[in-house]
Amino acid sequence: MTSLQKLKAIPLPGKLLILQFIWVIPYIFLTNYLERSLLPFRLLCYTQSDFLAVNEPLRKNLDSCIYHYFPNRLSDPKCSLNASIGSINDPTLPRGFEKVVVVRSAPGSVDYRNYIRSTWKPTLPADVPVVFVTGASLKYDLASEANEYGDILTLDFIDSYKNLTLKMMATYGYFLKYESMKQVVVINDDTIVNATALIIDSESTSNHPSYMIGKVSRGYPRLFFPWLLWHVPGSMYKHKCYPPFVQGSSFIISRAAMTSLLNHICQFPFVHLDDVLMGIMTNCLNIRLIHREGFDRHVLDVFSVFHYQYSRYTADEMTVLWGKIRHLL
Ligand SMILES: *[C@@H]1O[C@H](CO)[C@@H](O)[C@H](O)[C@H]1NC(C)=O
Ligand SMILES: *[C@@H]1O[C@H](CO)[C@@H](O)[C@H](O)[C@H]1NC(C)=O
Ligand SMILES: *[C@@H]1O[C@H](CO)[C@@H](O)[C@H](O)[C@H]1NC(C)=O
Repeated sequence: MTSLQKLKAIPLPGKLLILQFIWVIPYIFLTNYLERSLLPFRLLCYTQSDFLAVNEPLRKNLDSCIYHYFPNRLSDPKCSLNASIGSINDPTLPRGFEKVVVVRSAPGSVDYRNYIRSTWKPTLPADVPVVFVTGASLKYDLASEANEYGDILTLDFIDSYKNLTLKMMATYGYFLKYESMKQVVVINDDTIVNATALIIDSESTSNHPSYMIGKVSRGYPRLFFPWLLWHVPGSMYKHKCYPPFVQGSSFIISRAAMTSLLNHICQFPFVHLDDVLMGIMTNCLNIRLIHREGFDRHVLDVFSVFHYQYSRYTADEMTVLWGKIRHLL
């Protein structure tokens, strides 16, 4: 019997009962999908072409571009995100290096640092150092770990999630002091790097000297529900949609782009979502965003940087994942 015949065989009251509730299942799937994918909001953002352009700045003039995004705010006169920050531990760097992989690390995350040291760090070429960047902490003294491995940069500010933008700016400032340095690769510590693919990505750049390479997200809405993690109030950012931005978990940034961000960060009102703020800044500063599929991949097929965005794997789980795919790298 086909399912249609089965349905016909059911007496009418029973049929009505089933038909009355049959929509519930697809409905649950659909709402769950819509919520996770932010689809309705993204459709709205896709209709606002002003917020989709990746390569052209919205406004030619920097001040009017800043005003376009923040008509209701001024930059913080006490802003010190461009300050020169000293270092507590310095990494050992190869002479004349052109690229450096910076892993954003919390002072207490020695398990993730050891995971990376024993897995993908040794797969990178010797002239591409991997450096763990942390802020300072009262609880953890990294001096002996830093001496042992020579791969830690501790910058002199209090490490916290809220100081992420400061951490990035201080890191750029630190590496800009090396004249040979051309690119920084910024990566989270819960990632797997495909060194071959990452090096290929870092070499396929644009003619424009100022760029970021990574997973470019377009048409993202501002989350205005206060209970959501990435909530941004309208008083902070007035528009419904963000301009394109590069996902913060893994990207490559050029020397010219780092210089430009550092020089202008204090002219922009602050937004606590680092990748969104960088998206606004790159748009106004004419920094090109170059999209590459391999970044921020959350499935273990073909990737430059694997990163599972929905939850954080433990260092042990990452080691197991590495064991599963290392023969494919
Ligand atoms: C930081 O930016 C502000 C505002 O643009 C500027 O007045 C100040 O001189 C800058 N400080 C440094 C250290 O560059
Ligand atoms: C950020 O770092 C500064 C400088 O160390 C510190 O004064 C401030 O408390 C930190 N902010 C947060 C939110 O941790
Ligand atoms: C790693 O990158 C290389 C070069 O792009 C590619 O051939 C290979 O399939 C990648 N491996 C994985 C697991 O992504």
